[in-house]
Amino acid sequence: MADLNVRVGEVKLRNPVMPASGCFAIEYAEALDFNKLGALVVKSVSPKTRAGNPTPRVAECCSAMINSIGIPSKGLAYYRRELLPPYTRFDTPVVVSISADTVDEFAEAVAEMSLPQVAVIEANISCPNLEQDGMAFAMTPETTYKVMSAICRRTEHPVWAKLTPNASHIAAVAKAAEEAGAHALVMGNTVLGMSIDVRTRRPKLGNVMGGLSGPAIKPIAVRMVHQCHRSVRIPIIGCGGISNADDVVEFMLAGASAVQVGTASFLDPGVMQKIIDALHVYCDETGVEAIRDLTGQVKLDRQLSDRWLRFAQQSG
Ligand SMILES: Cc1cc2nc3c(=O)[nH]c(=O)nc-3n(C[C@H](O)[C@H](O)[C@H](O)COP(=O)(O)O)c2cc1C
Repeated sequence: MADLNVRVGEVKLRNPVMPASGCFAIEYAEALDFNKLGALVVKSVSPKTRAGNPTPRVAECCSAMINSIGIPSKGLAYYRRELLPPYTRFDTPVVVSISADTVDEFAEAVAEMSLPQVAVIEANISCPNLEQDGMAFAMTPETTYKVMSAICRRTEHPVWAKLTPNASHIAAVAKAAEEAGAHALVMGNTVLGMSIDVRTRRPKLGNVMGGLSGPAIKPIAVRMVHQCHRSVRIPIIGCGGISNADDVVEFMLAGASAVQVGTASFLDPGVMQKIIDALHVYCDETGVEAIRDLTGQVKLDRQLSDRWLRFAQQSG
């Protein structure tokens, strides 16, 4: 059997496969053995109590889904008391994802959730920054640096910065997160989209626009993982459209050390277990002894890749 162990900085994972925040719940334990996953990433929590966005919140389209859920939250105390404890009973690192409206609120929430039973804090900096008219923190290097440095000052826990594929200068944003002290990047969240019902002529989502996820966004996420891998030294967790073992390998070749699976788990709650089994088969068939050796091993013309990276930087 191949060695599927990977490291994301100081965090050791038994394999590179973990759920994406918001696409996983404790009920999935009926379909999966949580002790076989790389990590357990919990739905984002925000410090303020919120009802979430207007319905409908989810629609299906073109090899993808589009959602605008809005991170409904009952606050941190409820999360700590009711939602978190069931995840901490497994022998698998727990990753708590946090969203907040302002830099100070973010840092405060991270400090409050840096509990001993939590292995990692994932900062969902793809969420709106109310101090910048709702533009996501991770849209610019400046706002990324500001929020990540405030967060990293308030915790001893490893912090993963979850970036948005909607940012133009992704390499610069990634670098800003690294310089601010992020231990790893999650690349990334959903792609902003819109879908219209041609019979009612209304947007399919109550909130008009929303985040596209699923297989349709995979090439965008793979491209951005590659760009981040070329610009930072911290590990990258790939996320976007992963539904099978080949997708995992593709993200690792592009530069990911581990991956997150989101939308695919809605179609098949047991998919992560199947992916892990299939990774063993892939490694056996292709002679890979340790899966971590795949990270960044895409074979490409370096000059062409460099040209694309420069182009993306200029045209951002
Ligand atoms: C219904 C739904 C809810 C989500 N909720 C969150 C969330 O609370 N926090 C977060 O960081 N990302 C959230 N995401 C984004 C996913 O974690 C993931 O980054 C994105 O869906 C891309 O991965 P995928 O194509 O495998 O789904 C959500 C996605 C979906 C579809």
